[in-house]
Amino acid sequence: MTDFVPTPADRFAFGLWTVGWPGLDLFGSASRPPLDPVEAVNRLAELGAYGVSLHDDDLVPFGSTEETRSALIGRFTRALAQTGMVTSMVTTNLFSHPVFKDGGFTSNDRAVRRFAIKKVLRNLDLAAELGAPTFVLWGGREGAESHAGKDIAAALDRYREAMNILCGYVREQGYTIRFAIEPKPNEPRGDILLPTIGHALAFINTLDDSEMVGLNPEVGHEEMAGLNFAQGIGQAIWHGKLFHIDLNGQHGPRFDQDLRFGAGNLRGAFWAVDTLETAGYAGPKHFDYKPPRTEDIGGVWETARACMRNYLILRERAAAFRADPEVAQAMTDARAPELAQPTLAPGESVADLRAAEFDVPALASRGMAFERLDQLAMEHLLGAR
Ligand code: GCO
Ligand code: MN
Ligand code: MN
Repeated sequence: MTDFVPTPADRFAFGLWTVGWPGLDLFGSASRPPLDPVEAVNRLAELGAYGVSLHDDDLVPFGSTEETRSALIGRFTRALAQTGMVTSMVTTNLFSHPVFKDGGFTSNDRAVRRFAIKKVLRNLDLAAELGAPTFVLWGGREGAESHAGKDIAAALDRYREAMNILCGYVREQGYTIRFAIEPKPNEPRGDILLPTIGHALAFINTLDDSEMVGLNPEVGHEEMAGLNFAQGIGQAIWHGKLFHIDLNGQHGPRFDQDLRFGAGNLRGAFWAVDTLETAGYAGPKHFDYKPPRTEDIGGVWETARACMRNYLILRERAAAFRADPEVAQAMTDARAPELAQPTLAPGESVADLRAAEFDVPALASRGMAFERLDQLAMEHLLGAR
């Protein structure tokens, strides 16, 4: 048992907009004052994080002059240098300003689409300057509230056109940046394009430079769609597409709660950590959550600490589960290792398979012993073993 204190080697990162969220929502004004990005860097470094991520507008308010922009970037990079923190990811805000009310890359308004791409191109230069390896694209406004106003095929054509332009630019500039698309089913738009991991994977495969584009799945977003996050990232890893991750908490299908990691669906969090750790995921463990509106700044730092602690605790529980000899036996009883065996034997033909005899009643009657295995996982998670 460790004391669950994070270090930079754990690669925990936070969005500036997470701890900096002032608690503004649809029904109420800010409950906390704005947080200076430099203060965020300093406090997160003290707590043991290794990186921060940001939208362009988190650091440089929309519409700032060139002079203000370079002064703000200068202050920020000095704070990074002083603390040893890195910029683990950069992203562009294509959702807050009213110009993006119908989206950025897929707005029906062509001038808005052109402006959106220009905004991202400029921010790619900043990402390169800050040394961020990953550029996330979350298309929260790329969608619609009603059907007739948005031609889905045309919108996807434009989404692809934008991605192809951005990938081409990164190649031309010789940047080493990779893109990670973040799916979400709804909110703020009624229905968002690329709503789940699966939709985004299929879309990525149609891009000119599909090897440069992967995923940034978020726990809450998949769970809002009623999906199993661990299974979703398992498939993303299988495709070699888990470029980044947004960890947070959610209580099933409802509004995007963005709870601290581990709150909400705790069993889901356990399997997510188990999946990341057994796959050897080496990217940042990035928290994208919103400290509840009820908290003052002390409560904000409590939630940041808790996100990292919960990950470390779950990592320990998952490792203990995997190392338990009773679990190994239960895995064998559940025939889990057998799934790694190809279904046809080496050299076996389809004709051989068709000629094989099966004792169907015997096969049908044997249990799979999954419940025993799952109970062992539950007991490890609950600290009872
Ligand atoms: C949300 C999203 C965002 C994105 C962020 C990065 O539901 O609000 O998760 O937080 O992750 O904009 O692009
Ligand atoms: Mn979210
Ligand atoms: Mn997110």
